[in-house]
Amino acid sequence: MPVQPRRAALTDPATDTARLSGVSFGYADGPDVLRDVNLILRAGSFHFLTGPSGAGKSTLLKLLTLAKRPTAGQLDLFGEAAGAPPRSALPGFRRRMGVVFQDFRLLDHLSAFDNVALPLRLAGAKRESWAADVEEMLDWVGLGDRMDDRPPTLSGGEKQRLAIARAVVTRPELILADEPTGSVDSAMGERLLKLFQSLNRLGTTVLIASHDEALAAASGAAVLRLDGGRLSGDRA
Ligand SMILES: Nc1ncnc2c1ncn2[C@@H]1O[C@H](COP(=O)(O)OP(=O)(O)OP(=O)(O)O)[C@@H](O)[C@H]1O
Ligand SMILES: [Mg+2]
Repeated sequence: MPVQPRRAALTDPATDTARLSGVSFGYADGPDVLRDVNLILRAGSFHFLTGPSGAGKSTLLKLLTLAKRPTAGQLDLFGEAAGAPPRSALPGFRRRMGVVFQDFRLLDHLSAFDNVALPLRLAGAKRESWAADVEEMLDWVGLGDRMDDRPPTLSGGEKQRLAIARAVVTRPELILADEPTGSVDSAMGERLLKLFQSLNRLGTTVLIASHDEALAAASGAAVLRLDGGRLSGDRA
């Protein structure tokens, strides 16, 4: 008889990649954009985060990337309290995540190759150890022949693919991608989804914020929905 997985171990706070308990957030004096959000991203899980424009998807990702702090509730990342970390702790958390920003945030003065290489350079590894990975990742996203080009000369979809290559090249434990297929056609969207899925199969925890309900449904991933600041859906 097959051995049942130990559910208690799967929900161990020390090994969950991210946990939000009763988290609320509002910008400045505005109303709460997120209200009493409870969410567990177990290590190795794959979630889509959907919801209408303005629902708070990007805001939720900003909490997870520690760009913003919850105004109430508890946030844990990689088993550690992360609701109000000292500035000195931020690089340690961020090194473990790869982020695809909705507005890409590429460095216009660097080539496509150097944009993708930047997180590896910052990590201090020698070029010989990562140069082939950078090229392979650029090939995967269909930019193998644009490595020397700078972001201003790329189309919206090409910039998006470059941002994805940069986010995943370090093989982070957690990938947070904000509308990563918003600027590409559906065939490329499916190809990029496959990239996230293969990283997930290698153990990476993935959360993708997307309007694209069809892609979310096709992915077979758990689908979370934000509406009016409240989160619902499959949290498996
Ligand atoms: N810097 C900010 N200051 C004040 N309000 C903001 C700020 N950023 C976002 N908001 C507001 O917070 C709410 C949620 O915005 P958010 O960007 O998280 O939504 P979203 O679900 O990502 O939308 P979209 O699908 O259009 O990307 C919106 O009402 C938005 O106007
Ligand atoms: Mg958004």
